[in-house]
Amino acid sequence: MRESCDIASQTLSLVKDHIKPGVSTEDLDRLCREFIESKGGYPSPLNYRGYPKSICTSINNVVCHGIPSPKVILKDGDIINVDITVYKNKYHGDLSYTFPVGKLSTKAERLVKVTYECLMKGIGVVRPGVHVGDIGHVIQTYAESNGYSVVREFCGHGIGKSFHEEPMVMHYGKKGAGTILPVGAVFTIEPMINEGAWKTKILEDRWTALTIDGKLSAQFEHTIAITLDGHEVLTSYQWL
Ligand code: MF3
Ligand code: CO
Ligand code: CO
Repeated sequence: MRESCDIASQTLSLVKDHIKPGVSTEDLDRLCREFIESKGGYPSPLNYRGYPKSICTSINNVVCHGIPSPKVILKDGDIINVDITVYKNKYHGDLSYTFPVGKLSTKAERLVKVTYECLMKGIGVVRPGVHVGDIGHVIQTYAESNGYSVVREFCGHGIGKSFHEEPMVMHYGKKGAGTILPVGAVFTIEPMINEGAWKTKILEDRWTALTIDGKLSAQFEHTIAITLDGHEVLTSYQWL
């Protein structure tokens, strides 16, 4: 899994340098697919339950699962989440970051920063014996104390030989609730944090999830393993 996660991290570093006004999300998709294939991996989203592309590119009010397209062109002030999952040697690794396109408004910048902090707070409580509810609880508390809402319809997940495994890792919840995670568990935490209401709606393409009110949404994701004395973030990519 370290290797799949490493390739996903390298792909994210590569794609970051191509995020600028005028670039299409199709360009980003091709870049990622070619890089992942050059490393002997396979982009897990491609043909997953009928998904047509190799990565997800979710801009502004798109919560998740935005489909790359030659018609979607990045513009100054956008925020774009790029979600990369790599399959290599029978295991998956899953990672996403939200990047600025050009110069952001103060409100977009604050949402992105708080969303990253939500992920880091979630990761911070991961150790043997943690309840999934403990992770959701710290994320929800921090997001809501900043005036934001936590998306309910999508969650983190176990990951390994399958892309999505048990357990579901909600980004909201109560301390001490839900499954206890043991040493060796590998899963993602991937909070989607909204500026307005938490509700989402799905487009006719049956993938693209939008905020119900058209306001901004941001997301960050890491794949994490529980170790004897705490945790290890397997997707080593780091902000800045
Ligand atoms: N990578 C997403 C996740 O974090 C799942 C994308 S499913 C796809 O779980 F089919 F849209 F790629
Ligand atoms: Co995931
Ligand atoms: Co993902």
